[in-house]
Amino acid sequence: MKTTLTVIKADIGAVGGHLKPSEAVLNRVKEYVNLEGGGLVIDSYVSYTGDDIAILMSHQKGVGDSDIHRLAWEAFREGTEIAKEEGLYGAGQDLLKDSFAGNVRGLGPAVAEIEFEERPNEPFLLFAADKTEPGAYNLPLYLAFADPMHCPGLMLSPSMAQGFTFTILDVSYTEGDRVIELNAPEDLYDLAALLRDTHRFVIKSIRSRTTGEECVAVSTTRLHNIAGKYVGKDDPVMIVRVQSQFPATGEVLSPFAIAPYVSGDCRGSHNVAFMPTKVNEPVAWFDGPALVSCLAFCVHNGRLTEPVDVFAHSFWDVIREKATQKTLEIRRQGFVGPAMVGFEELEYGGITERLARLDEKFRVLQPSGSEG
Ligand code: 13P
Ligand code: 13P
Ligand code: MG
Ligand code: MG
Repeated sequence: MKTTLTVIKADIGAVGGHLKPSEAVLNRVKEYVNLEGGGLVIDSYVSYTGDDIAILMSHQKGVGDSDIHRLAWEAFREGTEIAKEEGLYGAGQDLLKDSFAGNVRGLGPAVAEIEFEERPNEPFLLFAADKTEPGAYNLPLYLAFADPMHCPGLMLSPSMAQGFTFTILDVSYTEGDRVIELNAPEDLYDLAALLRDTHRFVIKSIRSRTTGEECVAVSTTRLHNIAGKYVGKDDPVMIVRVQSQFPATGEVLSPFAIAPYVSGDCRGSHNVAFMPTKVNEPVAWFDGPALVSCLAFCVHNGRLTEPVDVFAHSFWDVIREKATQKTLEIRRQGFVGPAMVGFEELEYGGITERLARLDEKFRVLQPSGSEG
């Protein structure tokens, strides 16, 4: 039996700014999925990270199924009605179109999904991030799937000896999905050359070269495909199958202890440390920090176990402390240099007009001696 895991996430409104969805909104989304998902989804789990709600669904309908996508879309629409009634900030923020057109891709919500033949034991991780972008996963995934410093399984486990194939999307290309496939270990330097640019080249999926099976799916989409223009960073979700022929859970988690700098945070315009956090945590400071949560499940015949909230462990308290220090340190320099994202990444159009106005006031100095 083939099982599909689909996670669809959206920000449909939050309490007190971009902090967290209200209980009433969450309850409505859960209620809708439970009521309307009968006969369609085998199991589901609804959680939030910052102001984003993630609906995880297990089913047998395959990837990109319109009934599954519609279920999530309608659940978010229902939740948006409650968000409007409660006066939540940004009610319906990520529902960019009025009507559903067969698939949530391009309509605003982010989606990651994998279809696979279940192994006798099938553990997987669900990551959800807020106040950052899909490229935030580039470094952790590179280290977990291509570097024995974090993934000793690459040298110790015969089932991983052949390495992994990375599919990378050029998110700045607008005409279609422009992808490249690179193999670790032999293409490592090419991989590094692309993945360093987290705003343009973003990991979309990874598969095992030993078995050909997909083990990672990230909600990576083109930046300009929605509404035909840059609509900002999309807080990403990701599914990672783990153990046996894939990296162990611990190997996938290991790189997150770096708390790498990522783009996002206040107005989506700053570089701050990526803080691992408990699931169902609000955002708290400078519209951040950039957060990542991780729920570990097993799935059997499509049924989900209860999850482990991995980053709730006290080990991660120290990492949170480090992330806080890293973020405070770079924030000390405010808007200058690497503290803020580059011009083309700024989500706020206002700066374009400001710079255009200033541009007209520039004058070119004549070489000394020739003026006057
Ligand atoms: P498996 O080889 O059973 O996946 O376990 C490896 C492991 O978890 C080491 O940390
Ligand atoms: P979200 O994308 O999480 O809604 O955050 C928007 C923002 O710019 C916060 O400052
Ligand atoms: Mg928001
Ligand atoms: Mg968000």
